[in-house]
Amino acid sequence: MAAYNIYFAAEEASFGMPEINVGLAGGAAMLNTLFGRSKTGISRPQNSSLTEETTMADTTGYRPLTGRAFLVTGAGHGIGLATTKRLLGLGATVGINDLRQNFVDEAVGAVAELGGQAVGIVQDVATRDGMRTAVKALHDHAGRLDGLVNNAAWVRYQTVAEIAPATMSRMLAIGFEAVIWGIQAAAELMTKGAIVNIASIAGLRAAPNTIVYSGIKAGVMGITRAAAVDLGGRGIRVNAIAPSAVPTEGTMRLRNAERDATRIADTPMGRLGTVDDIARAVCFLLSDESEFITGQVLSVDGGTSITTL
Ligand SMILES: NC(=O)c1ccc[n+]([C@@H]2O[C@H](COP(=O)([O-])OP(=O)(O)OC[C@H]3O[C@@H](n4cnc5c(N)ncnc54)[C@H](O)[C@@H]3O)[C@@H](O)[C@H]2O)c1
Repeated sequence: MAAYNIYFAAEEASFGMPEINVGLAGGAAMLNTLFGRSKTGISRPQNSSLTEETTMADTTGYRPLTGRAFLVTGAGHGIGLATTKRLLGLGATVGINDLRQNFVDEAVGAVAELGGQAVGIVQDVATRDGMRTAVKALHDHAGRLDGLVNNAAWVRYQTVAEIAPATMSRMLAIGFEAVIWGIQAAAELMTKGAIVNIASIAGLRAAPNTIVYSGIKAGVMGITRAAAVDLGGRGIRVNAIAPSAVPTEGTMRLRNAERDATRIADTPMGRLGTVDDIARAVCFLLSDESEFITGQVLSVDGGTSITTL
């Protein structure tokens, strides 16, 4: 059986998948409630339709992350870009990191009207030096660092026989090692704040041909807990999000209606996830709304990881 890709690195990425916009649902409702009232008493409408292009700040002026600075790795596309948009809408300064200049330029252009302040950072963050350079670039620009989202990934699904040193090394470098380098680099510059690692339900449940990917994502969950223990005393929280299947540029080549129908049937909420579902959860874990939550893995998956459907 031939190896096939789930996610594509920048130079191999495909584009053009339509955005999926959905109304308020499930975990989004919980987060909406949590974000519904600011400490200054400003409320946001509870029935607003949240889409990827509609941030809380667009309708309410509620910007609780104003003055704070976050770096999002792999923010040129998909979950990273959606997270960036939402952070900007909440008033933050965001370092938009990706591998290639054109991806970063397109992302910076796409967020121009959202508020906050976007800073493009073209950098391969798969190495210790690369990650430190990216983190420092945002810190130098903003004069502070309040959080990091370890999101970038390069992924191959391969049969047992097909797993090869080159693909394994590349997946480990960006998916596992870079998470640790990111935590190290951020911890050096943060006085307090929050780090969110993007894991996957593949770290909890197995799918065919995912030995390396599942191992990496389970490892990210372990890293998250151990880092939370080491950094909690400094007021730095470390949590992870475990998304289920989310249509993104990186996953589009793998998509087909039959597979999606199976996934939807296995999901209590009855739909696939969206990038904005994940972005809302990341912003919750970066914000003060989650200030006593650390070392946790939050599955954002419409319930698919807890069923035996
Ligand atoms: N989309 C899903 O179904 C899904 C499900 C579970 C978990 N995840 C996880 O969510 C995260 C984002 O996934 P996505 O689907 O949005 O991915 P994506 O492929 O759409 O985007 C990933 C981005 O990371 C960038 N990138 C890759 N290597 C990099 C490097 N060395 N330095 C800097 N940038 C780099 C790519 O250029 C790309 O823009 C990943 O960690 C992935 O494993 C995704």
